[in-house]
Amino acid sequence: MRAAELIRRGEVVAFPTETVYGLGADATSASAVDKVYQAKGRPSDNPLIVHIASFQQLRSVVRNPPERVRELAAYYWPGPLTLIFEKSASISDAATAGLGSVAVRMPAHPVALELIRRSGRPIAAPSANLSGRPSPTLPEHVLADMEGRIPLLLDGGPATYGVESTVLDMTADPPMILRPGPVTAEDLAPLVDGVAFGGGTEGQPRAPGMKYTHYAPKAPLLLVVGGANSVADKMLPVARLKVSGGATVGLLCTDETLERFPPDIPAVSLGSRFAPYGMAKNLYASLRKLDEMGVGSIVAEGFTGDGIYATIMNRLRKAASEIIEDGAADEVRQLTESVRRHP
Ligand code: TXA
Ligand code: MG
Repeated sequence: MRAAELIRRGEVVAFPTETVYGLGADATSASAVDKVYQAKGRPSDNPLIVHIASFQQLRSVVRNPPERVRELAAYYWPGPLTLIFEKSASISDAATAGLGSVAVRMPAHPVALELIRRSGRPIAAPSANLSGRPSPTLPEHVLADMEGRIPLLLDGGPATYGVESTVLDMTADPPMILRPGPVTAEDLAPLVDGVAFGGGTEGQPRAPGMKYTHYAPKAPLLLVVGGANSVADKMLPVARLKVSGGATVGLLCTDETLERFPPDIPAVSLGSRFAPYGMAKNLYASLRKLDEMGVGSIVAEGFTGDGIYATIMNRLRKAASEIIEDGAADEVRQLTESVRRHP
């Protein structure tokens, strides 16, 4: 496998995983890992996830894995759950941005597992997008961002989940979900006592990556949260006002609301609200599509809900420049002000 050879030689290879495409390099080599940061244009204080292919390999990348964390790994791996461990000396400080901890996961994708096995290295890999762009869920997305910057892309077709792995810090007390993902808080609750979400307590380390604006579309994105029956009635007037102010508006909606919008306003559907894993899978491709359409303003539909809905909303909230919450007392005023700011 040429890709494995490149990894062994300290080069960067893009490869498919079940979440999003990754940009991989030998996690034990500082110069290899540096190339990943360079290719992405990623700030060097944002650590990478180390990908492994076996439980034996876990022992070489972490120190003193606690029993309960190993149990959780045994339950979810291979799969879209990243766990934080104490780092072993074999992992380059460049991969962990100098932290004493390391984020590890075993991806549930045959090509990724084969690449790790054949290279014989743990592979440090962030998502294979340019920093600030949506994560790639199709090989075309990787090419769009990385062509000419990396020597090889392994084509594995569309990613299954389309959103990045859940990052869980079991070294925190209570254990903390640093980044929501396909494995949801509801999935984890029966297995992880007192698992908490996000912020955490004062002084606890969080995923350093969370402080960066992950993805900001070129056009300002107004996120309007609401139920399937009411949300289009809030989105349409504000879209109309923006259009009458001279803006080219693009809508991000769902199959349920698509027909409520007139054909003269271009709309991209995430899929059915009742098939949320499908919406997650389409999310980043839809955001890329809106960028390509070159619209000056995006009005996006948002939902409430737990589980994977919360994961989708986490990503949409990060992409948004403004959010109108469902049932906000001053919704109408907020919508009007949004139009004044971004006609
Ligand atoms: O699904 C995924 O996780 C994909 C695929 C390629 O595996 N990878 C991915 O990597 O999303 P990236 O680099 O885009 O996101 C890694 C996240 C960042 O938020 C980073 O700050 C956090 O994990 N992270 C990495 N190491 C950490 C550590 N030691 N402690 C806390 N957070 C860490
Ligand atoms: Mg990323």
